[in-house]
Amino acid sequence: MSRDLLNITPESVWLQRRKWLQWAGAASASGLVMGPGALAQTRTPQVQPIVAMPSVPSALAGAQASDKVTPWKDATTYNNFYEFGTSKEDPYEKAHGLITEPWQLRVEGLVNKPMTFDIDDLRTFAPIEERIYRLRCVEGWSMVIPWLGYSLSKLLAAVEPQGSAKYVAFISKADPNVMPGLGYAGLDWPYTEGLRLDEAMNPLTLLTLGMYGKTLPNQSGAPVRIVVPWKYGFKSAKSIVTIRLTEKQPPTAWNATAPQEYGFYSNVNPDVNHPRWSQATERRLGEGGLFAKRLKTKLFNGYEDEVGQLYAGMDLRRYF
Ligand code: MTE
Repeated sequence: MSRDLLNITPESVWLQRRKWLQWAGAASASGLVMGPGALAQTRTPQVQPIVAMPSVPSALAGAQASDKVTPWKDATTYNNFYEFGTSKEDPYEKAHGLITEPWQLRVEGLVNKPMTFDIDDLRTFAPIEERIYRLRCVEGWSMVIPWLGYSLSKLLAAVEPQGSAKYVAFISKADPNVMPGLGYAGLDWPYTEGLRLDEAMNPLTLLTLGMYGKTLPNQSGAPVRIVVPWKYGFKSAKSIVTIRLTEKQPPTAWNATAPQEYGFYSNVNPDVNHPRWSQATERRLGEGGLFAKRLKTKLFNGYEDEVGQLYAGMDLRRYF
């Protein structure tokens, strides 16, 4: 437990932490490491043992997707995580070597109270909510995932952003010993993403610690990632170790590599095509593969009510 946290963790969170530890202890003692109900048959032998994550119903009812939840198997075997290779199967096959405990997340930059959180601190910092979000990849597939976490704004409020802070950068782990993909010259490492501070403070932006009732499997960005559901998937950085508040717009991995293809904003927008392919429709993972019915993509991935005001008056073709 880092000392920074001692003064800011409310008692209810400590109680939740105790419950989590008791549950996790009982689960590992009995050899039971599975999540609830329907997931009990699922096996991911190449990831670390997974324990169920306690959660409370999300207050963000408007953010819950009415769509069908993507099967766990599809969501965890078809991934983008270039640190482990460029093919969709690479993360599932190669990410098991990533050591996710101990893990620390540093929150720094233009803040009054920089803090370092152990992963246990993050799991108990605020009540974990289940948020069923759509996430759409710029490549044209999408999925519906029951994520577990809480609004990033809670963590950012605790470090007290300074008046000059305008942006938030997210920096992923880069460990050449366990990440064979770091040899790939197509991206600058570590993987970096960024948001405007008001985007990061929007309650939809989720500091994500689990999915499907469990901690995150490595290929999905264990032990902590960001999920920004109204933006293309690449904005949702995995396995992050640093969050840095800055005055200037931070460089981001895909934008730095191909600025004409990947803008800083990258809001899901069916009217603004990627130079090499249309963004008007999408296929859901797990719903018939290449033959899946194509769905119409919605502006801001369907979260316009929650986030539209962030872009009032902005030319979304210019700021794509
Ligand atoms: N984060 C890191 N560190 N490295 C990556 O290669 N890929 C991004 C994003 N986060 C990526 C990353 C892309 S392109 C997408 S579409 C999403 O993760 C995919 O998330 P998923 O595999 O959980 O579907």
